[in-house]
Amino acid sequence: MSSPSHGSNPRYVYEWLQLPMPEHVIDFSVNVNPLGPPSVLKEQWGDWFDAVADYPDPQARELTRRIACMDSVTDDQVLLGNGGAELIQLIGGLLREKRVLLIQPTFSEYEQACRAHGCEVDHYILEEGTWSLNVEHMIAKLPNVDAVFLCHPNNPTGITYEESTLIPLVEACEQHDCLLIIDEAFYDFQDDAWTAASMLYTHPHLIILRSLTKMYAIAGLRLGYVLAAPEIISTLKNQQPHWSVNAIAQLAGKACLQADRHVTRTRDLVQRERAVLLDHIEAEGYLVSNSKVNFFVLRDPALDDQLPLLRYLLEKGIVPRHTLNYTGLNGRWLRFSVRLPADNALLLEALIAWKKTT
Ligand SMILES: Cc1ncc(COP(=O)(O)O)c(C=O)c1O
Repeated sequence: MSSPSHGSNPRYVYEWLQLPMPEHVIDFSVNVNPLGPPSVLKEQWGDWFDAVADYPDPQARELTRRIACMDSVTDDQVLLGNGGAELIQLIGGLLREKRVLLIQPTFSEYEQACRAHGCEVDHYILEEGTWSLNVEHMIAKLPNVDAVFLCHPNNPTGITYEESTLIPLVEACEQHDCLLIIDEAFYDFQDDAWTAASMLYTHPHLIILRSLTKMYAIAGLRLGYVLAAPEIISTLKNQQPHWSVNAIAQLAGKACLQADRHVTRTRDLVQRERAVLLDHIEAEGYLVSNSKVNFFVLRDPALDDQLPLLRYLLEKGIVPRHTLNYTGLNGRWLRFSVRLPADNALLLEALIAWKKTT
């Protein structure tokens, strides 16, 4: 069995490494909100049952309008999808047989979707450890590509870039007729995060991807959206299966977008926990990424391949995300989500214990 290509579903990791799965495991490989979904979902769940029998609104009009208002764009600049994953596939279709540049290490679905649609894929690999973005170098590559994917904040490192770094990139892509896809699936885990959404009107080569499955912990329900120029939205829509966003996801999406307190509580918790956890982990001699969101990558500098540490943690019931399918990391790091305080304390304890064995 090959290594699982995504986090979540710990059973696959134990099967891959042929390890017995402990009765109780803590899944640090999935990077959704550690507080779970907003309570309004549970409260209203029963009321939504009637929606099961009918076809959903194929245009998801109400939710689309709400998102358009929230992001100050027009309705025809929004396309909802069955999770960001579906929209990435649709974007792959839009880029069929084009030349695509991926800023690595990053979410592996971009490459998968682009290759499935016959794109020529090139990688721009950032320096390991800092993952800083030299925009001038990037811009120099634009004459040779039709599209660039940037994950911001980046999965798996959690790194973000300054507005002063990103604005010149958006502008240069526009000048070079190059589509720039910025995946903002995790942008709402930061306070006052910069988003490229305000540049959409003046930069029709910009495509922004968002997911509701992370902040609102509705990964099982599936919901995401794209913001882009109306022409791009209409091309993507033509490729999308009818009724792609189910009726419960539409109702839940509207409820989630009103759960402001849940978002604030989540940000406070994640920021506090991440700061404490990363300080302690670094003090134990590990290298960590300078993450601004709800996950980070870590490496024991004494090991090149982190497989022995991965196995050790799995035996203790702690499930990290391997990085074998992240170009530019290739197993030299492990990704962990920031969870509730008790779980984070167990992770730290296990990492301290590992250092004592080596
Ligand atoms: C960066 C990034 N974008 C998009 C997605 C897709 O999310 P979903 O399909 O759950 O909305 C993920 C999922 O892990 C992700 O990490």
